[in-house]
Amino acid sequence: MQHMRQVKGFRVVITGKGGVGKTTLTSCLSRLLGQRGIKVLAADEDPQMNLPYALGLPVDQASAIVALSQNPDYIEEKTGARPGKSFGALFRLNPNVEDVVGRFGVRVDDNLSLLVMGTVVQAAAGCLCSENVLLDSVLNYLALRDEEAILLDTQAGVEHFGRALSKGFSQCLVVSDLSFNALAVARHAAELARQLGIARIHLVVNRYRDEAKDKLQRFAEATGTDTQQLFDVIHTLPPEPRFEALEPDVTRILGMDSAYVAGLNAVADDMLAFDRQRQELAANAGNEGGKG
Ligand SMILES: Nc1ncnc2c1ncn2[C@@H]1O[C@H](COP(=O)(O)OP(=O)(O)OP(=O)(O)O)[C@@H](O)[C@H]1O
Ligand SMILES: [Mg+2]
Repeated sequence: MQHMRQVKGFRVVITGKGGVGKTTLTSCLSRLLGQRGIKVLAADEDPQMNLPYALGLPVDQASAIVALSQNPDYIEEKTGARPGKSFGALFRLNPNVEDVVGRFGVRVDDNLSLLVMGTVVQAAAGCLCSENVLLDSVLNYLALRDEEAILLDTQAGVEHFGRALSKGFSQCLVVSDLSFNALAVARHAAELARQLGIARIHLVVNRYRDEAKDKLQRFAEATGTDTQQLFDVIHTLPPEPRFEALEPDVTRILGMDSAYVAGLNAVADDMLAFDRQRQELAANAGNEGGKG
């Protein structure tokens, strides 16, 4: 039997309302998967660029990173058009960006690299500017890489969704706290993820407290949401008061005895089990396909 890679084409997008804990989760989960021996590429799609700091890169190194969307030379090299000067210009719509991780990926540790993409603020819906063409190509390319797990941290809200999720992300972690507004964004995100065909949609209730657990129930009743149907699985992560002292490098929590980390391990177990199952199904389908 052929040697099976432990992780193949494993891509997860992390989404949710502002401030619910997406970047904290993405950075800790990236490190945690890396510690389990999985090669991880953490990608930052948030123009705020918090992920490098959350992953614990030295501040001088993190602050020197330029997002791909802010790199006019690379955008011009690949698309043939310089940002801001491309009005009316013809540019390559599907540039080859296979060099992007090699050139712009930042090594965090042996198993973990970081790619800061940035986001283009769109002047008009569907703006066909060279920055967008470049980022779309990068997302397309990431969807084809099968040598590592890719975790994509996104900016708050759901505007970015169509672009990110239509490119082969198989799982979505929708992060929320127990507030009505965050749950409403989570619901919207999950509906979009479902429409885009994301195979496994997780709800991660961050800062979860038992005393407040009826808030999820109350939200579901008030909005007519069937949470069991909307989400494939619901995880909870408790408040972790030590983040305040640890930040920006919140991944240091992994070396400590923490219920947050225990919860994150359960999320990782679930993601990996689902991915294994998906691979087995795909392998079986491949064998069946061979028979015609
Ligand atoms: N479980 C938790 N317990 C306590 N504090 C937390 C927890 N999760 C995240 N935080 C804190 O909440 C704040 C917001 O977290 P984070 O930056 O990860 O959110 P975000 O969703 O990425 O925000 P944004 O939408 O601005 O990108 C940070 O100060 C972080 O340390
Ligand atoms: Mg963030």
